[in-house]
Amino acid sequence: MAIIGSDIKYAIELLNQNELVGIPTETVYGLAANAFSASAAAKVFKVKERPSFDPLIVHTSNLGRIAEFVQEIPDDAQKLADRFWPGPLTMIFKKKSNIPDLVSAGLETVGVRIPNHKLTLQLLANIDFPLAAPSANPFGYVSPTSAAHVNEQLGGKINYILDGGNCQVGIESTIVEFNDDGVTVLRLGGCKIEEIEKVVGKVNLNAYSSSNPKAPGMMKSHYSPLTSIIVGNIDDIIAQNPGKKIGVLAFNKKAARINKDHQYVLSMNGNVDEAATRLFTGIRYLDMLNLQLIVSEFVPDAGLGRAINDRLKRAGSK
Ligand code: TXA
Ligand code: MG
Repeated sequence: MAIIGSDIKYAIELLNQNELVGIPTETVYGLAANAFSASAAAKVFKVKERPSFDPLIVHTSNLGRIAEFVQEIPDDAQKLADRFWPGPLTMIFKKKSNIPDLVSAGLETVGVRIPNHKLTLQLLANIDFPLAAPSANPFGYVSPTSAAHVNEQLGGKINYILDGGNCQVGIESTIVEFNDDGVTVLRLGGCKIEEIEKVVGKVNLNAYSSSNPKAPGMMKSHYSPLTSIIVGNIDDIIAQNPGKKIGVLAFNKKAARINKDHQYVLSMNGNVDEAATRLFTGIRYLDMLNLQLIVSEFVPDAGLGRAINDRLKRAGSK
């Protein structure tokens, strides 16, 4: 198992040696490596068992440093950066050649984000390179929102996890790209579309494509727990599956007739922001119980609810 701690100096030492470190962010935990090193990035793909067509997001601590590895920052991106960084928004830019092709999966672009987490910002401020960091889970599984989650799945393959507590947002960053049509959202996430539109006007949504996806890695079956999951009306699905050992991932109240310990409520108050912080913990909890089926329901489809529903749809399609 990995060591879990808050020793930034040790984390820096490992990263300087092109080793991997688990890092906290406000969205989910990342598996970090020197983004200027192809050999360090190769370790990320190996540990995650991630296909090489799926590009990594590059993290840095301030806007000034981005010019070092991206070609230009469009006006809309500048506005979004001013409003949302540090925060749960990833922006796609044309990359410079110091970002290895492996990091960008052969694309001419790179996804960039300034995460909003004190420890990780401190870490980033004290190294000479940005950090390539995908979510710290095996490819295709739900993302980790605590150091313990990272340790459970990748602890045997990495040395150190920087412990920054539970993630405050709980789902991955929103990803946007810029082209002649304006701003396009490639992945729904922790930065609300409604808030983005207040800054740049109406955006395009291209977050559901599954074949030859624009954001590689956005396959439909992402975020799958090992137990199958069906999303819809909880009572109806339970009725249609008699005799099965069922777990329930509910929005704001437990279902009747199902063992209370086999149920996880995302937000008793019906608050979608709270539901987002608990989503992946809930899926993991139910997935550990060795049940035959997880039944869930969509949450109100606004704000972070849209990103939650997107994750549920993907988790439910195998
Ligand atoms: O919140 C997050 O974004 C977390 C934390 C650790 O920052 N990271 C994360 O990384 O979710 P990951 O690797 O699980 O998801 C990265 C996704 C890719 O699967 C791809 O869909 C998209 O970001 N992406 C990255 N670079 C891209 C690019 N150049 N063009 C289009 N999509 C890109
Ligand atoms: Mg991921």
